Amino acid sequence: MLNEHPLTGHIGAEIGGLDLRQPISQDLAGRLRDALARHQVLFFRDQHLSLDQLKALTGIFGPIMRLPYVAPLDGEPEVIRVLKEADERGGVFGGDWHTDFSFLERPPAGSALSADIVPAFGGDTVWASQAAAWDALSTPLQDLLAGRNAIHVGKPYGVRWAPPEAERSGASIQMTRGDPQADVERAHPAVLRNPLTGRAALFLNPLYVVRIEGLSEAESRPILDQIQRHATRPEFCCRFRWSPGTVAIWDNLFTQHYAVNDYHGHRRLMHRTTFAGPAPADLAATRRREPNLAAGLQVTAATPAGSSVLRPRQ
Ligand code: SIN
Repeated sequence: MLNEHPLTGHIGAEIGGLDLRQPISQDLAGRLRDALARHQVLFFRDQHLSLDQLKALTGIFGPIMRLPYVAPLDGEPEVIRVLKEADERGGVFGGDWHTDFSFLERPPAGSALSADIVPAFGGDTVWASQAAAWDALSTPLQDLLAGRNAIHVGKPYGVRWAPPEAERSGASIQMTRGDPQADVERAHPAVLRNPLTGRAALFLNPLYVVRIEGLSEAESRPILDQIQRHATRPEFCCRFRWSPGTVAIWDNLFTQHYAVNDYHGHRRLMHRTTFAGPAPADLAATRRREPNLAAGLQVTAATPAGSSVLRPRQ
């Protein structure tokens, strides 16, 4: 068992007692993958990893992948520098609720973020458990979404939409915009099931999802807005205060995240890597509940360990 300290009742755990600069054994790698599936985001303080160590850590969760549309670090095609300078006043990379690149056929399975320079205050990151949000979603909305696709479009990177200056990621990050490939509509299941925990989770996000399949954009909008308000309720979130040397790893398919842009006048520098995993289509949750649960048990809550609390149906 790892030295796990859950941050909240639903998502996030600090893992203590590890030096990730040392080689990671197969056994430890397996326990880290298991912990990530249960907690959805893991934090390791005081690691101060080199880029090679960060890439080695990332690679135990899945094949390391190169992100499209974001210029990588010189000579490090798999590493992104997430930087906001003290004199930048615009948006930040990731400064809205999103799931990374969900419009790709195979969106990233997860990412690692390593903190080098953190502001004196602010600059936190917030993650929302989409499994906890699914568990607490009303039955009619679960019925609507289970087994149904949602349509994702990479519009911030494509030709349909240019974000206002204030909403763009910082000047220090070079993004490629206007690529028509990003405007290809991609259907992904609206609900995924985690193969390790068996838990279902919402797979929707406001940055890239334009409609629910079978409904028009106008019909979808109020439903998606309502679901998004629900999906990011504080009860389903953890907010992390960074310190230099800290590394976070998150499960991209089962969470949304938000970089809080509240530190103008201060420099913040992180390095980010990304790993690949299964296509969402292979994780589709086609039923609202698994048959054995539907037989008379109802998921009413989820523990930090990810094991659902089951109660007989009323
Ligand atoms: C992101 O990956 O979306 C950015 C997260 C952060 O900088 O806190």
